Amino acid sequence: MTRPTRWRRHSAIASLVLATAATLLPTPASAAETTLGAAAAQTGRYFGTAVAAGRLGDSQYTTILNREFNSITAENEMKWDATEPSRGNFTFGGADRIATHARNNNKRLRGHTLVWHSQLPQWVKDIRDANTLRSVMNNHITTVAARYRGQIDSWDVVNEAFADGTTQLRPSVFRDVLGSGFIEEAFRTARAADPGAKLCYNDYNVEDWNAAKTQGMYNLVRDFKARGVPIDCVGLQAHFGSGGPPATFQTTLTNFAALGVDVQITELDIANAPTTGYANTVRACMNVPRCTGITVWGIRDSDSWRSGENPLLFDRSGNKKPAYDSVLSVLNGGTNPGGGVQVGVNYRLVASHSGKAADINGASTAAGALLIQWTAGSGLNQQFDFLSSGEGYYRVRARHSGLVLQATGTSTGADIVQQPDANSAAQQWRVVDHGGGVISLVNRASNLALDVWSASTADGARISQWTYTGGANQRFQLNRV
Ligand code: G3I
Repeated sequence: MTRPTRWRRHSAIASLVLATAATLLPTPASAAETTLGAAAAQTGRYFGTAVAAGRLGDSQYTTILNREFNSITAENEMKWDATEPSRGNFTFGGADRIATHARNNNKRLRGHTLVWHSQLPQWVKDIRDANTLRSVMNNHITTVAARYRGQIDSWDVVNEAFADGTTQLRPSVFRDVLGSGFIEEAFRTARAADPGAKLCYNDYNVEDWNAAKTQGMYNLVRDFKARGVPIDCVGLQAHFGSGGPPATFQTTLTNFAALGVDVQITELDIANAPTTGYANTVRACMNVPRCTGITVWGIRDSDSWRSGENPLLFDRSGNKKPAYDSVLSVLNGGTNPGGGVQVGVNYRLVASHSGKAADINGASTAAGALLIQWTAGSGLNQQFDFLSSGEGYYRVRARHSGLVLQATGTSTGADIVQQPDANSAAQQWRVVDHGGGVISLVNRASNLALDVWSASTADGARISQWTYTGGANQRFQLNRV
């Protein structure tokens, strides 16, 4: 029997309304994950560790490894002294054991490292002829990268090439015999050997944006991107003292990401494992959309290259330390599990597609001033708190002005401005929870979502409202300040 047309139309409208409501209603807060890898995976990141092949027979070690981490870096086994101890004599025993463990246990694998001045056999250091060294370097890269082709997520192609405290390359047989172009040559050779792996430049003491070494590395990456030299990521090792990361750490991550590369924290350890230092490091990564993963440099304190400083997340008996809990909590969204907003807390709202913060134009305190995106900074005009309007709706109040965000109409593309708080429907927003502290905001009056115009990544782009799509330019990371 055919149903009357009128019924069908109503039914269609009813299901459309239901579908729309289902899309826009906040999803229930996801349960907090209980391991580092699973917690990181909620936001598409990995949480890994350095692994020593010699410890894979230790069941306490492998139990923690298999339970907690979803990425592995070979601590020493893929380095030159291990893989080509004499010219043309390749030995992959330790490296293979680690690669096999990763494969069998469904872990990602980071490659570390193809070209490094340290743990470099004497026979390489002794080469004085440029043609010989070029051919030796390229043969090493090609042989090692090709052996693990298709298995490596990211390769540290060149490690620690910059000199401490300067913007210049450190002396090494590679720089001294081949000149500074050895880095570019290494990346081109690695791309040919394993086209599927992301290619990283990796270094230490490059976490502080104001450090000369950071600027040297930044200039290198910018130059490579400008000239089309294949580079996909930078690794910041993050071997920190007990004070944890420098204050500019997140700025450094953001600035590298803005060059169009992924950033990864590749060798994290912190003297005495302070809870705050670990939390701040992990939070900085979580706040930067292109920070794709974190690796700690070992599992238990007894496994660490700086074991006297007890810098890791597990003690010598394999127990979780307080820093473990602080890291897990940040990976799970901090005090804000599942991404729902908290009233009475100030946040920056960082757009997922651009890494830029929602910002009241010109720090104006006037009613009617426009909402835009701008490079994240410490300005109070980039800080907002949420006021509950009940029924799951919130006003969003700019900290510098005390005015709240308001849609200027109900059409797509209408500006969002700040206005005195009247608790009107145009000032109320529903939170769509994407997990991991990422939300979208949907206006009560217009049913449209806060949206960076045209998914622009530029400073000054308007944040207006548009039909909800859940796209990255409608997603904002809640960055607690
Ligand atoms: O395996 C030998 C052993 O047979 C020998 O008896 C012993 C004597 O010292 O040495 C053992 O090798 C040591 C190796 O670690 C394996 O334990 C080396 O001496 C030692 O120098 C080596 O240290 C490694 C260090 O790199 C070398 O530069 C650390 O384990 C490793 O954690 C560390 O990792 C580096 C990253 O690759 C790059 N960034 C800095 C980071 C920390 O230094």
